[in-house]
Amino acid sequence: MIAIYPGSFDPITLGHLDLIQRGSRLFEKVIVAVLRNPNKTPLFSVQQRQQQIRLSTAHLPNVEVDSFDGLTVNYAQMQQAQVLLRGLRAVSDFEVELQMAHTNKTLSTQIETVFLATSNEYSFLSSSVVKEIARFGGSIDHLVPPHVALDIYQCYAHQQTVSNPIKTEATQNLRSLPTQTPMETFPEWEV
Ligand code: PNS
Repeated sequence: MIAIYPGSFDPITLGHLDLIQRGSRLFEKVIVAVLRNPNKTPLFSVQQRQQQIRLSTAHLPNVEVDSFDGLTVNYAQMQQAQVLLRGLRAVSDFEVELQMAHTNKTLSTQIETVFLATSNEYSFLSSSVVKEIARFGGSIDHLVPPHVALDIYQCYAHQQTVSNPIKTEATQNLRSLPTQTPMETFPEWEV
């Protein structure tokens, strides 16, 4: 059975990755499909997001990465998939996801939505949370794959330099984050 895991993935987080890994054990093939949404201004282009997902899932042979526009069920049918895979973090997700699943069911009775409960450690995690932390100079190393963290740090360091060409202490810290491990930054944490 083929499953589509549709989403914005701007950017992919460890929560998404956890779901992809677990989905890949349940289904013959999982296609991670990035929505091309002209109504949103994403941090990363569709190509960048696909590349980030490809690098993050390179160890999973039955996972493919693609992009689509229009209705998810149409894309699923085009891929001959039977399942839409979605994660549930909390009750708040459930309301939105249930509405989406019901809507999709009215569009195609052939496609089933399968929900996986997000692993506890990622129940708070979203792409928006990651971007907010990074925008204010916080560390996101524990929330996204390392190469994605690097992309995000570079993105915000660049934005900060463009909007404020005068280097501040915060800008300097932001730039130094990807090359330093937490232990190098905070040697007092060493046990
Ligand atoms: O990662 P996201 O932003 O929560 O993903 C939402 C997504 C892409 C799954 C949803 O917006 C979607 O399926 N959009 C495509 C349009 C569509 O099929 N709409 C009908 C279902 S509401």
